[in-house]
Amino acid sequence: MHRLTVLTILLVAGVVWTEDPLPAPTLSFGRTSIGNKYTLFSNIDLICSPPRNAPYPMTVSFGRVNQSAVFTSTLKDSTKVKFTTTAIAANEGIYVCWYNDSRTGEVSAASNPVNLIISPLPSPWLSVPAFIPIGGNYTVRCSTTSSIPNRTLSLYFRKVPVTVGNETFMFWGSAALTGNQDVIILDRKLVDATESFEFICRLDIVDANQHLYLSPLSNYLPAIAEEAPIRLVPENQGSKCLGQLEVQIGGRWGPVCQEGNVDFRARQMARVVCRELSCGTPWSVETTRDDGSAEFSLGSISCQGNEGRLRDCVISEVHPSCSRRTGLDVVCSDALPAPQILITGYRVGSRIAISDEHSLEFSCMFDAPWFGTREIYMYLRRNSESNTETIYSKQLASGEKLTTTLDAPIKSGEYTCTIGESKHVASVKIFVSKWPSVGLIVAGVFAGLIGVGILVSMYICAK
Ligand SMILES: *[C@@H]1O[C@H](CO)[C@@H](O)[C@H](O)[C@H]1NC(C)=O
Ligand SMILES: *[C@@H]1O[C@H](CO)[C@@H](O)[C@H](O)[C@H]1NC(C)=O
Ligand SMILES: *[C@@H]1O[C@H](CO)[C@@H](O)[C@H](O)[C@H]1NC(C)=O
Repeated sequence: MHRLTVLTILLVAGVVWTEDPLPAPTLSFGRTSIGNKYTLFSNIDLICSPPRNAPYPMTVSFGRVNQSAVFTSTLKDSTKVKFTTTAIAANEGIYVCWYNDSRTGEVSAASNPVNLIISPLPSPWLSVPAFIPIGGNYTVRCSTTSSIPNRTLSLYFRKVPVTVGNETFMFWGSAALTGNQDVIILDRKLVDATESFEFICRLDIVDANQHLYLSPLSNYLPAIAEEAPIRLVPENQGSKCLGQLEVQIGGRWGPVCQEGNVDFRARQMARVVCRELSCGTPWSVETTRDDGSAEFSLGSISCQGNEGRLRDCVISEVHPSCSRRTGLDVVCSDALPAPQILITGYRVGSRIAISDEHSLEFSCMFDAPWFGTREIYMYLRRNSESNTETIYSKQLASGEKLTTTLDAPIKSGEYTCTIGESKHVASVKIFVSKWPSVGLIVAGVFAGLIGVGILVSMYICAK
């Protein structure tokens, strides 16, 4: 505000105290919505407004600072003069306008300068899938939004890793676009491990005077086919079938990084992971916060669940910058240990016969050092012909016991210890009979013997 005031005073001062030259006109752009930057080949209007007290008739001139006029126009009365030029590099520069008093030939001061900067052709946009599995197909697309006539898109490539002397991009192909076409496409099929490129593309046009204009290069993107082996990293040695999911890209191991509907996606992914590792089916899947220390990760993975390998899933990001990185912790069914069932006072066997006066102490446990401190649910159940009844359940770590005493009378049936909802079961069959107590047995046997004696003696008498 202050500066503007000072400037105004100076200008007024100039007019007041200097009689020569004539007061300067004002120069402005016809459209101001995009500032003084114009896209290549657009039309640019420069508008020169003579000052209010200017002498008429006059000749208005447009030109670059300190150069001769590129356009002149004669004015009889107070109007604005428009000069239209084309936004090409040759017309860039700092422009001014001025006027001559047609009667005296006196020249005005130059107007304020305006700086015409031509922005180049817009860069085309390249897209290559983030992740390309070995044996897969992929498409490279180079597209432009420009509808300028005579436009051509060209695709270039180079081998990666880039070696000294082989840094330059080579021409892959180009196509002249017509009508509404705005993209060129390269289809790569059934790629192998040697598929390792970097792509770049560019838009060019030729004008009516056979001038070639090149856009800046597009973004450049790699297309590297990956084997992408996976592993589960266990906290403790002993099983390859549980742990934190990692995947190898470019020879380095890193985590996966999921966002969005993590739980559903994680379950689908875990099915593929367990299958790929020959570890059966997922038994538990948990998402874990990743500490973000990994150099890279795979992200936005979307599996159907029936893929043979994780790399066959849709993987949208190879170096995702997840704001909340989540890893995947998987336990596949093959990592599950066999549970054990123990009955206090009895040798472990598959069947035990007891009387209905017996109470029994049952214990369930499992021994799996690779589970570390991980806890899993253990169930003690009784299966009979008609139903399955859960008697007791508890979260246990490896080596811990679930112990419970069942008071007499115990029901007959198959008693099982089961880990979670798995099919890993230890069982014992218990037969309970209504045997009399020891006293009754003795009395019974005695009574029987007497009975036999009476019968025998009666038989003898009858003879
Ligand atoms: C134009 O010429 C004047 C006088 O020779 C000089 O002072 C001024 O810096 C020049 N302006 C430009 C933009 O070259
Ligand atoms: C890849 O392309 C080949 C040949 O066109 C085709 O047989 C195959 O089904 C494609 N694979 C995928 C995953 O689309
Ligand atoms: C397009 O190219 C053709 C052939 O070079 C030329 O005759 C034509 O004027 C060009 N069109 C434009 C709008 O530059």
